Amino acid sequence: MRLPTTLSALLTGAATVVASTVVSLGVQLANPAPALAWENGLARTPPMGFNNWNFTHCESIFNETTIKRVADAFVSSGLRDVGYQYVNIDDCWALPQRNAQGNLVADPARFPSGMKALGDYIHARGLKFGIYTSAGTKTCNTAGFPGALGHEQQDANLFASFGVDYLKYDNCNNQGVDAIQRYTAMRDALINTGRPIVYSITEWGRTEPKVWTWGAPVGNLWRTTGDISDNWSSMISRVHTNDDLAQYAGPGHWNDPDMLEVGNGGMTATEYRTHFSLWAMMSAPLLIGSNVPNLSTTNLDILRNTDIIALDQDPLGHQATIVSSSGGLVVYRKALSNGDIAVALLNETGSTATVSTTASAIGMPGGSSYTLKDLWSKATRTTSGTISSSVPSHGTVVYRVTRNGGTPPAAGTRQLSDQTSLSSTNGWGPIEKDRSVNTRTAGDGRTLTIGGTTYAKGLGAHAQSTITYHLGGRCSTVVADVGIDDETGTNGRAVFQIWRDGAKVADSGGRTGSQGPLRITADVSGGNRLLLAVIDGGDGINSDHADWANAQVTCS
Ligand code: GLA
Repeated sequence: MRLPTTLSALLTGAATVVASTVVSLGVQLANPAPALAWENGLARTPPMGFNNWNFTHCESIFNETTIKRVADAFVSSGLRDVGYQYVNIDDCWALPQRNAQGNLVADPARFPSGMKALGDYIHARGLKFGIYTSAGTKTCNTAGFPGALGHEQQDANLFASFGVDYLKYDNCNNQGVDAIQRYTAMRDALINTGRPIVYSITEWGRTEPKVWTWGAPVGNLWRTTGDISDNWSSMISRVHTNDDLAQYAGPGHWNDPDMLEVGNGGMTATEYRTHFSLWAMMSAPLLIGSNVPNLSTTNLDILRNTDIIALDQDPLGHQATIVSSSGGLVVYRKALSNGDIAVALLNETGSTATVSTTASAIGMPGGSSYTLKDLWSKATRTTSGTISSSVPSHGTVVYRVTRNGGTPPAAGTRQLSDQTSLSSTNGWGPIEKDRSVNTRTAGDGRTLTIGGTTYAKGLGAHAQSTITYHLGGRCSTVVADVGIDDETGTNGRAVFQIWRDGAKVADSGGRTGSQGPLRITADVSGGNRLLLAVIDGGDGINSDHADWANAQVTCS
């Protein structure tokens, strides 16, 4: 990347680094909503709950009695009290035909009391209600239940009238209509209902551009894989598809490697512990897919492991990344909001093996010692830096690692524009850059609205770029010099914004190249999540640059 000439002239010294340059990825932000969906306030941690699909499919056991029993069991088994909240129903709840008003109708054989009554039953137990349809003309089941393509607002309104809190929106029978267009249409319909509804994009990562590159402004989570099956190879292959996608996950927008199989009988208890451990490490939704009232104590205890759940629900929202992987022995690390790091030691091989890493390798150097809490056995021990365990075949040992004493990370100012300097491998604990998203629309005459302000686009392309950082509540002030380089265009214009935990705390207003650079500051005290956004409405995006330069944050 290069510095804009105007900023280069102003800023001297080697520390100047360009953080963000608008880049074309060919993604369309069609008909932007009043606010970007990552600020819709829902799913700040991955959704937890239930979905019937994995154990019922469309068999007759999928009915009102079964779902009510699950809601009751959530309460009686304590699952509600450890965080499971959504009771979601899947495909085959509706009749094959809409009614005379064009509305979906609940199948009276399966759901004689109707959907509103089911939602009321679920809500009366302190739980939330989720429903399913497809972004196509029909859902996925071969019986051909109606989908919402072309009926988005009518169906969203109906779901809101049922008291729906969560929509799983599938991808079958989509008639080849562009996925971003289809999923954005339902996002806008859900917003129009005025009801807060978690929005699950079930596109499976099927088409280009991949859903994880455009999902965050559209939905709260998106399937990254095809359907899971209740066996080891299916489960572990979903993990590895997700391995490279950590940068796309964060509060309000999650990768979804599909629903849990724990309790369905196709894996051993060791394998189910691995399944649950890795879903939590990946900040995946924890949607139980088994018959909850019939769960064995062993499986209930897996699903009720509050230490593992705490990893999934950690407010930092950091999806685990691979530290090392060799011969089926894999080490994952996940940064946590209190400065601890979770480590998963996975053994994919056919026999017991020792899996090892170190405090330095996971990004936690400098401690005089470390406490390792085994989150399954609950044993704790102290180490000087080696993190190692014998792990059974297909097993996973999960440690929560706490640094004891030693040299704390230095206080002071850090370049936000340098990803490496924010990495906890440099001792910065929870302060991490987690994603950088660049989107662009072609010159289509639309505007872009962020945080209630509408920005007119220029004559040519329109782009936005966001970079998000985890601050862990440790930082106070952001200072940045922003500007655009208009060397080849004539109409370049950009807006620079700083957001703290979903609230805008600085806005440059529209800037043109001829105005030169501008220094903006923002108070991010106590904030966990910092987002730098550039909205460029000028022409010649491919040659012009809109840049953060010398962006710094002061932390304790
Ligand atoms: C697709 C989805 C599944 C399930 C079925 C229902 O296959 O990926 O999760 O919803 O449709 O037909």
